[in-house]
Amino acid sequence: MRQYPHELSGGMRQRVMIAAAMAGGPELLIADEPTTALDVTVQAEILDLMAELQRETGAAMALITHDMGVIARLADRVCVMKDGAYVEEGPVGEIFAQPRTDYTRALLAAVPRLDRADRGGRPTTAPVAADAPVVVEGRDVKVHFPIREGLFGRPRALRAVDGVSFQVHQGETLGVVGESGSGKSTLARAVLNLLPATGGAVTLLGRNLDPADRSAWQAARTDLQIVFQDPLASLDPRMTIGDSIAEPLRVFRPGMDRAAREAEARAMMARVELDPALINRYPHELSGGQNQRVGIARAMILKPKLVICDEAVSALDVSIRAQIIDLLIQLQKEMGLAMIFISHDLAVVREISHRVLVLYLGRVVELADRDRLYAEAQHPYTRALLSAAPIPDPAIERTRQRIKLAGEPPSPMDPRAALRFLPSRLPVDPNAPILAPALKEVAPGHLVAEFDPA
Ligand SMILES: Nc1ncnc2c1ncn2[C@@H]1O[C@H](COP(=O)(O)OP(=O)(O)OP(=O)(O)O)[C@@H](O)[C@H]1O
Ligand SMILES: [Mg+2]
Repeated sequence: MRQYPHELSGGMRQRVMIAAAMAGGPELLIADEPTTALDVTVQAEILDLMAELQRETGAAMALITHDMGVIARLADRVCVMKDGAYVEEGPVGEIFAQPRTDYTRALLAAVPRLDRADRGGRPTTAPVAADAPVVVEGRDVKVHFPIREGLFGRPRALRAVDGVSFQVHQGETLGVVGESGSGKSTLARAVLNLLPATGGAVTLLGRNLDPADRSAWQAARTDLQIVFQDPLASLDPRMTIGDSIAEPLRVFRPGMDRAAREAEARAMMARVELDPALINRYPHELSGGQNQRVGIARAMILKPKLVICDEAVSALDVSIRAQIIDLLIQLQKEMGLAMIFISHDLAVVREISHRVLVLYLGRVVELADRDRLYAEAQHPYTRALLSAAPIPDPAIERTRQRIKLAGEPPSPMDPRAALRFLPSRLPVDPNAPILAPALKEVAPGHLVAEFDPA
């Protein structure tokens, strides 16, 4: 087989790199963040491959990573670094069970845990009121992109989002998880009408939002906000952060004068714990965590009803990430916000969500209350995701059973991909229409897409 690097997925490329590095029979392999950009299932495979090659060759390995779960899974000995120097060193079991320095203790405490409901003493979400109204509802939302293969090929549909329905209540966070390409960002953009949906409907506070009705959307804009992944890239580099935070006021509250806008911006900065003295600074002068607070302040300044966070904490360090989660939980309590919290990180989603929706190639495979999903996931995809995500505790991590999915993931262009977990329903005739797996309610509020038993 002859293939070029750009034709391989990130995980395949990383496997090639590791195989090449091991081919010369080295005595030491240095792996610098080998799995950082990868999906959890791919990460788990790469980590297994590294462990296996190490067993076979007896090579030593230096593993450099910020991911405590990866350390817990692979390392024998750990050196903790801060500001260019070691702060402590020891066997992996000791570092995790009895950290000697405050720095390591704080680092471990900030890591979200897939296997625990509490946040190690940090603030947790408030329960959703039983009579909380539905803030936003999506019904059978579809986004299909026409993809043309070759110059003269007929366009085929890439079903990025393929019939997703959900509701989010006041004061509730709906977590949306799924691997890269599962359609999370496309769903968010369709809900906000930032791209044209192929089908389905979105209602805000019971009002149907017709995608073509510009004035209805203009009015809805103040109630719907989004926070993006890359805090620096999502802010205008030429605007001071004060102006960035106040900009929605300038657009949507034209009657407000500059002084009033600035006063609101300062108040909002205080609320997201940004020093108001930073008001005339520019984004490049701030840290990632500070810029993300700016993004949140900007999203919150119009007192929206719904905020969508699309990988809003993924680019941040663990301790900063924990602080931003604290902030979002606190703002939700104060403002009764509904949130859609999109992340590929199942542990973070557990901390902030009331309910969790699992997306696979544009379709919902499972939806349940948070605790139920983490304790009693039923769909094979959810179970594989949960078992692939490392737990930052070597005692647990080394004895965990992993649930592996067979085969390479299908292409999102392949209409048969929808039946990956239901192959018994694949029609014999290749031209016959492909049915969509139905969602079944296995317990109140717990929906699972039909699948074939393994
Ligand atoms: N504008 C576009 N045109 C064509 N295809 C697109 C477009 N935007 C997204 N896609 C495709 O739609 C699918 C879903 O993409 P999306 O960005 O929603 O995934 P995601 O779950 O947010 O992934 P990630 O975790 O990497 O952010 C992918 O296969 C992607 O390649
Ligand atoms: Mg995305």
